Amino acid sequence: MHYRDQYDQSINQSSEYWLDKAQSISWFKAPTIGLAQTSASDYSWFEDGQLNTCYLAVDYQVEQGRGDSIAFYYDSPVTGTKQKISYKELLKRVSVFAGAMRAAGICKGDTVIIYMPMIIESAVAMLACARIGAVHSVVFGGFAARELALRIDDIQAKLVITASCGIEFDKVIAYKPLVDEAVQLAQHKPLKTIVLQRDILRAELKGQRDIDWFDFIQDAQPVDCVSLNSTDPLYILYTSGTTGKPKGVVRDNGGHAVALKLAFNEIYGLVENDVWWAASDIGWVVGHSFIVYGPLICGASSIFYEGKPIKTPDAGAFWRILAEYRVNAMLCAPTAFRAIRGTDSSGSLYKPYVSKHLRWVFVAGERLDSSTYQWLSKLLKVPILDHWWQTETGWPITSPMMGLDNPKPTRLGSTNCCTPGYDLRILDDAGQETLPGTSGNICLKLPLPPGVSTSIWNQPDRYANAYLLDYPGFYKSGDGGYKDEDGYVYITGRIDDVINVAGHRLSTTEMEEIVSAHEAIADCAVVGAVDSLKGQVPIGLVVLKSDTKISADQLRLELVANVRQQIGALACFKEVFVVKRLPKTRSGKILRAVLRKIAAGESYQIPTTIDDPKILVEIEACLKQRT
Ligand code: COA
Ligand code: AMP
Repeated sequence: MHYRDQYDQSINQSSEYWLDKAQSISWFKAPTIGLAQTSASDYSWFEDGQLNTCYLAVDYQVEQGRGDSIAFYYDSPVTGTKQKISYKELLKRVSVFAGAMRAAGICKGDTVIIYMPMIIESAVAMLACARIGAVHSVVFGGFAARELALRIDDIQAKLVITASCGIEFDKVIAYKPLVDEAVQLAQHKPLKTIVLQRDILRAELKGQRDIDWFDFIQDAQPVDCVSLNSTDPLYILYTSGTTGKPKGVVRDNGGHAVALKLAFNEIYGLVENDVWWAASDIGWVVGHSFIVYGPLICGASSIFYEGKPIKTPDAGAFWRILAEYRVNAMLCAPTAFRAIRGTDSSGSLYKPYVSKHLRWVFVAGERLDSSTYQWLSKLLKVPILDHWWQTETGWPITSPMMGLDNPKPTRLGSTNCCTPGYDLRILDDAGQETLPGTSGNICLKLPLPPGVSTSIWNQPDRYANAYLLDYPGFYKSGDGGYKDEDGYVYITGRIDDVINVAGHRLSTTEMEEIVSAHEAIADCAVVGAVDSLKGQVPIGLVVLKSDTKISADQLRLELVANVRQQIGALACFKEVFVVKRLPKTRSGKILRAVLRKIAAGESYQIPTTIDDPKILVEIEACLKQRT
């Protein structure tokens, strides 16, 4: 089918279109209803369907004769380990781990935290939860104990599944003490902490709560998949919003499986037995959709890489993976390629690994700068395809569709056109659609297609307040951008207090709360500034209390330590500038939009509401000191 026909049908006859797509997966009870909608914002997909996502990802693949095919290649340069896990082997591991969870009293609807590095057991834990209808919430290993505690409390986790450590370049990061601290901080106490011991650093197991992974499964019997409603939750994934408290994005089972099948086949252009690599982490949405669930649902082989683009051992690591596993397509954040280029600008380390199998490379998570695009295209000589999506959507909103006969050609700077089901409009602040080429707020007309989250865990009103309130009938993406006359979309960046650091989404409001809690601070703002490697990094602009004696250097050390301790190292908060005042409106509101522009090195208009325009000159001069 051609893109235009398919896209038009997905918008004009969306219920029929998606019901037809739903036939591409194996249901326990096939849905007869596509879209059920009672109002613009109250709708669901495939509500009478029943299925199990673990069944689709594992059992179904074995039933189709792919038992001996590779589900996961595990490649860990940081431990010097490589493994191949077949679908049959995965089924065995997952069904036994699910049996152990069941024996420990975990039932459908119970919640489980997974705080693990990039090892196969993480996927086993995720799939085992899906198998018995437990709802998992994976927390990225770079988050600190306080963030973990927030999530344990918010989902009232019955279990925490972790490993003794993660490995970052040559640093071994002990996970278990962080989990212990989180459990201590949390009001809610999980029943058990299951610990996968890694040889490089074993954890101390204490009391009744802690149990070794292998002791946990020792007497377990394998269990079958339970039948779930399409709309039952599969997982909760926390992401940064504009408040200090992260949002628990809820993903359903049915819509998610149908959307991932379409995305993997028609967007990424891959089929069963192809080899796919999403170079990310299971702690992010890319890891959920396209390291674990998507490729397996489509019977492909997915790569679990426990390493970095550089220094593990060198900037040729990615090229080795592409060649060694005969990868057909990959997905990655541009920052990883910037890191490789920064170390090996001539691309000499690619020469031993020139890949004959690679068809194309997708990038997302942050803006693809043109010089990285040019460098990569020239080096790999395959299409480099920018596409745009978010944790909330779970799959691409705009992208070339490489599985169709006539994918739309790329246009420099654009993330391409809408994928099926997304009706994207650019609205101005008054809610009017802008003209082609004119920037505005990127919004998506409701209903959103299957797989896209429609709720925030535990906070019934937060979804509507965060996404639906400003533009009735639309979902507000939080990104700004424009469309050209042919419907190609250009993302210009976030219009809120979210920043993207090395493809990781972080809230500046959350950092501000930590910074402002310091006793020497009278006022502060944290904004994203340009960084040549990570795209953006947070910087703090602080006004000191008049009676404080602390030196600027000491203050910086303390603030950096506080953010690291309370959010985690991944925040990359390292720069603090002391200023006399912050720019404010006459009514006392900090002019954040202007600060964002100054920090990003963009031109800006001095707001008419500003109380003292001179302060902007001081801040600009101050930020010029950045190296
Ligand atoms: N567990 C524990 N700590 C972690 C971690 C994890 N899983 N991931 C990152 N961290 C820590 C790092 O050790 C580092 O700590 P440090 O300040 O003590 O050195 C900090 O968080 C920042 O890490 P990172 O952003 O990875 O920066 P880096 O300088 O170590 O590496 C890159 C730079 C470009 C190599 C790296 O950022 C990278 O690989 N980026 C790609 C990210 C990506 O794939 N994003 C896609 C999301 S879809
Ligand atoms: P996350 O929810 O962590 O996946 O982050 C989503 C955010 O990353 C989006 O709202 C954008 O701000 C940004 N993003 C994702 N893909 C792109 C892209 N291709 N170009 C520019 N920004 C992107």
